[in-house]
Amino acid sequence: MHPCSLDPRLSSKTRASGYSCPFHNMASDLKVVSIQEDRFSDVIVHLRKNFFSDEPLNKAVKLCKRGEPHAALERHSLATLQQGFSRMAVTDSGVIAGVALNGTVKKSEREKAESRLLETADEKFKAIFTLLYGVNEKVDLFSTYNTEELFECRILSVDENFRGRGLASTLMTDSMETAKQAGFKVFKADATGVYSQKICENFGFKTVAEIPYSEVDENIRPPPPHEALKLMVKILE
Ligand SMILES: CC(C)(COP(=O)(O)OP(=O)(O)OC[C@H]1O[C@@H](n2cnc3c(N)ncnc32)[C@H](O)[C@@H]1OP(=O)(O)O)[C@@H](O)C(=O)NCCC(=O)NCCS
Repeated sequence: MHPCSLDPRLSSKTRASGYSCPFHNMASDLKVVSIQEDRFSDVIVHLRKNFFSDEPLNKAVKLCKRGEPHAALERHSLATLQQGFSRMAVTDSGVIAGVALNGTVKKSEREKAESRLLETADEKFKAIFTLLYGVNEKVDLFSTYNTEELFECRILSVDENFRGRGLASTLMTDSMETAKQAGFKVFKADATGVYSQKICENFGFKTVAEIPYSEVDENIRPPPPHEALKLMVKILE
């Protein structure tokens, strides 16, 4: 089935805003495509200008100023890009409007990543990932859903100039389709802020674990309206 026909709200919203759904053959200056290696460095530049400074936990710890590089976060992003499941929305002239950095994870890989984190010198990065691993430790998704491997959206980022037009929702629809095509049954996201949580809820994700921000150190606590870090899961059908 066409992804947009699953969610009429999305297609009417994108039409109304002048942005056309990439799944329809409507006149459009934006399309969603797979991210090939020759665009990896452009994606990193996009993330430096948008995600590194704006994502709620990054913002709370003041990880980066807008446009600044961040070695550990770039390594994490590149490792995800290399897995080959990431998608980007681009204009006709190739400008990156938004990205969904998607990856897959096996139980043994999560454990290795957690021990690598202990070697990271960057204390702010370590604090963020300790929290992310903490919410993931609350529930064993592999045994709960009887699966060896999960699909996860690790980074959802829309350029400041393209926000509020349904683009993140379009990238999420596209990512769910990408996961399904690749044969995955369980799609997860560590949703750090109310907007990504809203997007996940709109697509039927359920919260399976959470850490209220009132319980975390104030140096890493995103301000309201963000209330909790949520581990959200959608079973793909
Ligand atoms: C969060 C982010 C990806 C949203 O992108 P976007 O393209 O503007 O989102 P959409 O237009 O698809 O909106 C999705 C939903 O979130 C809500 N939303 C998004 N940004 C909002 C804002 N600033 N204020 C209020 N609501 C907002 C929308 O109302 C919409 O819900 P609805 O369809 O029920 O009305 C974008 O703001 C961003 O890149 N932020 C920085 C990085 C980040 O925080 N990423 C998410 C964590 S991984």
